[in-house]
Amino acid sequence: MLAIEAESVKLAFIIDPISTLDPCHDTSVALMEAAHIMGHEVWIAQVNSLSVVEGKAWAVLERVELVPIELVEGRWVAANPWYKLSDRTFMCLETMDAVFMRTDPPVTVPYLYATYILDYIDPKKTLVINNPSGIRAANEKMYALQFSKVIPETIVTADKQIIRQFVEAKETAVLKPLGNKAGEGILILQPSDRNFNSIIELSTLQGRVPVMVQEFIPDAKEGDKRIILLNGEPIGAVNRLSAAGEFRNNMATGGTVAKTDITPREHEICSQIAATLCQDGLIFVGIDVIGGYLTEVNVTSPTGVREIDRLDGTRLGHEVIKWIEQALHSKNKK
Ligand SMILES: Nc1ncnc2c1ncn2[C@@H]1O[C@H](COP(=O)(O)OP(=O)(O)O)[C@@H](O)[C@H]1O
Ligand SMILES: [Mg+2]
Repeated sequence: MLAIEAESVKLAFIIDPISTLDPCHDTSVALMEAAHIMGHEVWIAQVNSLSVVEGKAWAVLERVELVPIELVEGRWVAANPWYKLSDRTFMCLETMDAVFMRTDPPVTVPYLYATYILDYIDPKKTLVINNPSGIRAANEKMYALQFSKVIPETIVTADKQIIRQFVEAKETAVLKPLGNKAGEGILILQPSDRNFNSIIELSTLQGRVPVMVQEFIPDAKEGDKRIILLNGEPIGAVNRLSAAGEFRNNMATGGTVAKTDITPREHEICSQIAATLCQDGLIFVGIDVIGGYLTEVNVTSPTGVREIDRLDGTRLGHEVIKWIEQALHSKNKK
């Protein structure tokens, strides 16, 4: 068979300062590393350097070369230093073939403004992943509400009475601030809790900010599964289990990871949401599933690739970059 070598392309990653990233854990590094290994140019920028000049999006970009991490006795090991920067220049983002918006949440006002700047990239010239308007459409907690068949019973409100009624009916519920991540501000609610009113007042800033309140899924003790979707298709998954004395299963709250499979029910969830994700330009997404229920759709900078690759021997970063190569190839043919 004739091997067709993919042409080298230019990829920009809008990320938090590279020195703050963990090469053995962060998916952004996995994607950049895969692109580098596959012979592409990798550039990075930070949100605060984004500009619109003469109607086009620009950024201060730095070329980066990465030393791939290695698996040693079941653990990822990174070289020190693991990246090298060069060629810092202010460039129009349309000189790139693809731009990954991978800044960590929370989605603050400057973050939102960055997505408005990215709107000034012509999609005919440059792929933007995820689509900036899709990122704005998809609050990571609230986006799941539209898939009512596959989510646990959920309300969103700032009203203490409505929350109390819901929690009394459910006996135990989970409260989630709408803009947080990594387990931050996630609380268990029980009607008998003597702090109940105070918890609601603090979480809703005295009834001014709505929060999500969801029925408690007892199967959460079996883990919170992260499934990575590429263009609506599940490509890998990892289970996350809480640390001792902690109910939250997030890696950031000390949770451990375990190898897992994607069950038929989870495939069903993925197929229920795939068309909507694709319509919204949400190409690289991480969903959270607890006890067979969709609890969160992460679209800003979903992680999990390093853990899945370590446990399953996959190279998900390569799959993503290969998808980009093909998408660019079909775009250029048009
Ligand atoms: N409905 C639920 N029932 C039980 N536990 C939950 C529920 N929703 C979330 N959790 C717990 O809270 C953690 C974080 O929830 P999630 O909705 O993914 O928010 P985030 O990861 O953005 O903080 C989960 O890993 C899980 O342990
Ligand atoms: Mg989560």
